[in-house]
Amino acid sequence: MNPSFVTLEGLGKSYGKYAAVADVSLAVAKGEALTLLGPSGCGKTTTLRMIAGLETPDEGTIAIAGKTVFAARDRINLPPEQRQIGMVFQSYAIWPHLTAAENVAFPLQVRRMAKAEIQDRVRKALAMVGLAGFEDRPATQLSGGQQQRVALARALVYEPALLLLDEPLSNLDVKLREQMRLELKLLQNRLQLTVINVTHDQTEALSLSDRIAILNHGRIEQLGTPRELYEQPVTPFVRDFLGKSVTLPARIRAVGGDRVTVELAASPESVLDCARPAGGTCNVGDLVDMSVRREALHLKHDTDQPGRTLKGVIGTVLYQGERSECEVLIGGQPILVYLPADAGLAAGQVIELAADALRLWPR
Ligand SMILES: Nc1ncnc2c1ncn2[C@@H]1O[C@H](COP(=O)(O)OP(=O)(O)OP(=O)(O)O)[C@@H](O)[C@H]1O
Ligand SMILES: [Mg+2]
Repeated sequence: MNPSFVTLEGLGKSYGKYAAVADVSLAVAKGEALTLLGPSGCGKTTTLRMIAGLETPDEGTIAIAGKTVFAARDRINLPPEQRQIGMVFQSYAIWPHLTAAENVAFPLQVRRMAKAEIQDRVRKALAMVGLAGFEDRPATQLSGGQQQRVALARALVYEPALLLLDEPLSNLDVKLREQMRLELKLLQNRLQLTVINVTHDQTEALSLSDRIAILNHGRIEQLGTPRELYEQPVTPFVRDFLGKSVTLPARIRAVGGDRVTVELAASPESVLDCARPAGGTCNVGDLVDMSVRREALHLKHDTDQPGRTLKGVIGTVLYQGERSECEVLIGGQPILVYLPADAGLAAGQVIELAADALRLWPR
């Protein structure tokens, strides 16, 4: 593993009695793209602003490139301009009264760089984000995506050690967002940039990140690769935040080693064989939660093993072209699953669903 490039230790920030960020510790490697992901108000922006030096933490330390830039106990607190950070914030629009080039030149002028060098760097930064030739275009005559790219060029122009992105794509329409997402990823790879990205868009997080930290109420709930978080969530919060899960209460019927047989509480004829839940006790008669990813449920084939099926009745069927979104009643309890549109499913039909990758959770 690379040595850590950004290190946060025990970072905390309260507003009055409200802990916006609590005990956040995190190490980001050089060249890594890490995403802070979580619901609105979970502390993502506050964390980013503390790293940037725009918000003073109550406690903890922040080190960037081997240098302590903040330490509550030692009263170290470097101002933003001494932290070598480039930022693109959702609210950080570019200046409308300036041209693209003037916008990008601004951070260099603040740093009192020579005019010729400024010109050269601005040209390169604009080319890097695909805006060569747009130098003299007034900001107001740029599209939303182009403006966003000017903001990115402005953040990159003084070659920051670290790039902080706070939902930089959220103002763009879907198509532009997808395009910019790809461009950002390519740019990050090409420049070997260390990036801390903030979003509450899961697709963006899963596709842009080497690792994701899921934040909930100011705390890191889980930190790992996108695949680890998606396939091995350690808490119900992470399970339900990433992707779509079906969760049904179940009762333990038998325990044998690390395998457990459960019956669904709403549908005792659905008997399932699962791995033992992690943590908590596990005794016959206990109530647990059974969860399965929506996409892991499919219509039962003859080849499906027994002990993996749920019996249900089709409720509503919403045709969506390539597939149908079906409401299936399991013992009267509705769940939503995607089933093949050509399966000829109709309301009232009795079906059997087979499931890969069932998981049990203590209640
Ligand atoms: N200046 C402030 N004064 C008081 N409370 C604040 C202040 N800034 C943030 N908060 C509170 O701290 C919590 C975390 O805010 P933060 O902006 O970090 O959330 P976020 O995760 O970025 O959310 P969003 O996804 O909506 O941008 C919120 O409950 C917010 O109301
Ligand atoms: Mg925010």
